Amino acid sequence: MKVNNKHYRTIWMQGSSVFMIEQNLLPFEFKIFESTNYLDTCMAIKTMIVRGAGAIGAAAGFALAQAAIEAGKNNYGEYITIAKKTIEDTRPTARNLFTATERVYFAAKQSVQLAIDEAQKIADEDAQTSLAIGKYGNELIKPGFGIETHCNAGWLAFVDHGTALAPIYLAHQSGKQVFVYVDETRPRNQGAKLTAWELQNENVPHAIIADNAGAHLMSKGKIDIMITGADRIALNGDTANKIGTLEKAIAAKYYGIPFYIAAPKSTFDINCKTGNEIIIEERDQNEVLYQIGMNKHNKPENLLISAPGADAINPAFDVTPAELITGIITENGIIEASDNGIIKLFKS
Ligand code: MRU
Repeated sequence: MKVNNKHYRTIWMQGSSVFMIEQNLLPFEFKIFESTNYLDTCMAIKTMIVRGAGAIGAAAGFALAQAAIEAGKNNYGEYITIAKKTIEDTRPTARNLFTATERVYFAAKQSVQLAIDEAQKIADEDAQTSLAIGKYGNELIKPGFGIETHCNAGWLAFVDHGTALAPIYLAHQSGKQVFVYVDETRPRNQGAKLTAWELQNENVPHAIIADNAGAHLMSKGKIDIMITGADRIALNGDTANKIGTLEKAIAAKYYGIPFYIAAPKSTFDINCKTGNEIIIEERDQNEVLYQIGMNKHNKPENLLISAPGADAINPAFDVTPAELITGIITENGIIEASDNGIIKLFKS
């Protein structure tokens, strides 16, 4: 994607360093963060310098490749095994992170170079699958559609292109004159901050809506389709995505609005039978109690926006039952959210 006319990927590896767009500073500041070792890359995943299922999958793969580079000859096996566990402990919900560590660990056991190659391959595949998802998703979008999306499943959440936003970019580029309703997506506001920033860069007409405005707009006929991303999809099609997705899916079902999930195969967890088995990350309560905004000196500032001393509960994801999902847009086409659809996808 282009930022100030220069093409960027969200994350890339050069030598033994991993570079990533510092997402905590967006949309106020555009900065590249360089991580020179695997523990720093773990910190970047944990603190959400890099976030979004595909992007943290790529980060996890690169982190394990960095660990393979750092490991001494004598304790190589032990070093990469501990590194794998440390990387997997950063964030529990997005399946892509584990898909990546499993693949790079297998390669690293053979050689450092194979680990680097595999990590690079994962990042390249992530960009390619996103583009394919865009093409299939675009077929669902008719001219003039109002499209609602939740959180950020755009190019910042992947290596490039994105999942939920990829069809929207292609629809816009082909002149379909779509309008995007961007859920702000509390508590971290990935919609208001990241999705809106991406859409602005691409000149896609859009408006940020308060999280609780979605059902109202659906009731007024403003939303023709809803597309969101996914962090982990169980074998039966139950889907974990950013907190608040479930409420939107329930509202969409009530108003008869098609509700699609867009995700690559690396997000599916076929060993997880239903959504009940998906671990939901609990994050720091301060993400709910405070907000980073821009102050009058044009500097980002973290402000208390709640009653002083109040406690908060901060589950980062929820699970939308398969029965509320119209279909899942994958790199191999649009599938049914069911065991059947998912088994067929993995056989193809
Ligand atoms: O906590 P995050 O920002 O890493 O959450 C992941 C997400 O951005 C969303 O859940 C998204 O819709 C799916 S990831 C492409």
